[in-house]
Amino acid sequence: MKSNNNTIFWEDERVDGADKVNGKAKYAAEHNLPNMAYAVFVTSTIAKGSIKNLDTSKALAMPGVLDVIYYANCPSVPGYISNAAERPKNAIEWRGHKVLHDNKVRFFGQPIALVVADSFENANAAIRFVKAEYAPESFETNFDKARLDPANLKATSSYKRGTEKKFKEAFAFVESEFNIPVEVHNAMELFATIAHWEGEDKVTLYDKTQGPKSTQFTVSRTFGIPDKNVRVIAENVGGAFGSGLRSWANVPAACIAAKKLNRPVKLVLTRPQMFSLVGYRPQSWQKVGIGADAAGNFTGISHEAISNTSRYEDFREGIVDVSKFLYACENVDTKYNLLPLDVSTPVWMRGPGEATGCFALESAIDELSYKLKMDPIELRLKNYTTINPENKLPFSDINLKDCYAYGKNKIGWKNRPTVPGALKENGWLIGYGMAVGIFGAGKGSASVRIVLSNDGKLLLECGVSDMGPGTTTSMTILASEAMQMPIQKIKFKLGDSDLPPGPSQGGSGTTSTVGSAVDLACKTLQQKLKEIAIKSVPVFAGMNAEALDVKNEMVISKTDTNAKMAIVDVLKLANQDKIDLTITSNGKTAAQLKFTSNSFSAHFVKLGVNPKDGTIKILQVVTTGDAGKIISPKTARSQMLGGVVGGIGMALSEKLEIDHKTGQIINASFGGYHVPLHSHIPPTDVWFVNKPDPNINDIGAKGIGEIALIGFAAAITNAVYNATGKRVRDLPNATGKRVRDLPITPEKLGFKSKV
Ligand code: MOS
Repeated sequence: MKSNNNTIFWEDERVDGADKVNGKAKYAAEHNLPNMAYAVFVTSTIAKGSIKNLDTSKALAMPGVLDVIYYANCPSVPGYISNAAERPKNAIEWRGHKVLHDNKVRFFGQPIALVVADSFENANAAIRFVKAEYAPESFETNFDKARLDPANLKATSSYKRGTEKKFKEAFAFVESEFNIPVEVHNAMELFATIAHWEGEDKVTLYDKTQGPKSTQFTVSRTFGIPDKNVRVIAENVGGAFGSGLRSWANVPAACIAAKKLNRPVKLVLTRPQMFSLVGYRPQSWQKVGIGADAAGNFTGISHEAISNTSRYEDFREGIVDVSKFLYACENVDTKYNLLPLDVSTPVWMRGPGEATGCFALESAIDELSYKLKMDPIELRLKNYTTINPENKLPFSDINLKDCYAYGKNKIGWKNRPTVPGALKENGWLIGYGMAVGIFGAGKGSASVRIVLSNDGKLLLECGVSDMGPGTTTSMTILASEAMQMPIQKIKFKLGDSDLPPGPSQGGSGTTSTVGSAVDLACKTLQQKLKEIAIKSVPVFAGMNAEALDVKNEMVISKTDTNAKMAIVDVLKLANQDKIDLTITSNGKTAAQLKFTSNSFSAHFVKLGVNPKDGTIKILQVVTTGDAGKIISPKTARSQMLGGVVGGIGMALSEKLEIDHKTGQIINASFGGYHVPLHSHIPPTDVWFVNKPDPNINDIGAKGIGEIALIGFAAAITNAVYNATGKRVRDLPNATGKRVRDLPITPEKLGFKSKV
């Protein structure tokens, strides 16, 4: 429990925790509507080609089956019309694969038909009776092979300051290549959409989304209907990590089916479909070169990357961007290309491109530190900058040095062997590693409704979502602190497009953006309360608003403590049931735009490598964040813990496997795609600088979601190198080495596979 001026304002708890644990909180697929039908996708069994014939007769004859919707009987969708001249004016073309629209197959597992039945079981039983006859075409899903031919690449961006490839002239330099396989978000909650048309041009959706407002916009434009006629409800989201930042095939398909059948339709993806239908972290290849002078000053950084996209849509992200501004360096060049393959479209996945990029950059810096015989933290401090070298603006705040100092001490960095492979504990080779993460900290616009009722309850509403980071809790805490009233009297409502417009939850921006709006709403409400008090309460008559305070659920004079009144009594005296305001907080002010804002993290790992078989055991983790003021300590800590778990998965086990002969994903299940187990997660220390950033917004908070993960995988690979290094004496079965291709396996360390 925290207290402020002897008054208890809030407890350190999740305000929505109890409802989530006891099952009261409903997720998209848990809603049920009268007369609802159930839909299941039939998916393609070839990677590319066209469907010559689709036989639905057997499926239609199955019990309870209501319809099989596919290209030949799919009603026309305004947003599916490519020719703008033929499209209704308020419709926008659907981005990506137009599900159920044509007979083309673009990737293995693409939905080719939708079976709708009176129960989920009946729909599911019928899908295997839909028979497709294909005309297959040749395809390419092999990234490693296809990237070697420059003709396959699509140039996306390049950047240069100073001299290109300057690093090669340095006193010491490294140039290395890095590979990261496809990784999949795989949140606990399956994607689901329930569509319910309440009229010809009016639809309500229960949907798993990170942005109720963005889904509303997508649906209204796809179906050419007014925004206000589309309501998207997503009060609870069971994880998404970026996969919910756009709408996928389940959204239009549910809408199409519900309209065609004239009854509500529920469409839930299966777990295997979660591997191919809702995005993933693209596969990437990177090459990083860094050079330094004898003192360790970086003289040149070159960063090249290729990541995959689909054949029908471009997805690009900030893979090489971190190298432009995380460290002081005059000569930087970057190049980024896309490689289209016959697979589905990737999307942002936690930390997105920056996590990919930081893995390479932070590994390369570690490599360089050994060449320079310099401590890797010292090397980073040598190139520390408080001014962003790309846009030349000062960081609104940067306390990464404090993160280094804390982590170094807490992990026991002094025990780190400077010669790799030189430390053993209990028969295990021990290594220490660290790496840095950086991500943009933005502030956008958001609207918040605030309602103070004369029963003393405060309601706030915003059409943002909470996919799990604790937005409901942190916004309630912010309101509690701004209003100086107990958390128990405050309710923050989100997850509904009918609420005042809020941003999509993404890019670590929710706390800064919505939090600023909550803060402004509370301040506006307090001002209003003071004005009402002056007008209606005799004891305040003639006073200035500035002379009054609103706190402890009272309006109170700053100078005469006898002049006070409970806010509920102020409203009653003024004969008002409530104060009901909607305010909008805008993006950064001119003063805030004079700075560039980022959150930072530094991750520290101590691990052991078993010299007999290459097994890796993470022994200790210290993860530190420079994210401004921490609004909600418990949920902020949990976000960092989630980043650690994700980072361990990225470093040690996560990899999507495609059979390039068929184009089929062969490990589309939790049995085949390995996320960390509880027993893989070591004692983890989470620490925040917890200092308000004075220049980003009024609340001083930056973001946490991405920096929790960004850099973490490199901390592990750096520690593995530190443990095994070049020394072979203690590795009877292998030669330890630096692993630049994730995930690290004993085989990549040089151990023979036991299977
Ligand atoms: Mo995050 S990858 O912006 O959901």
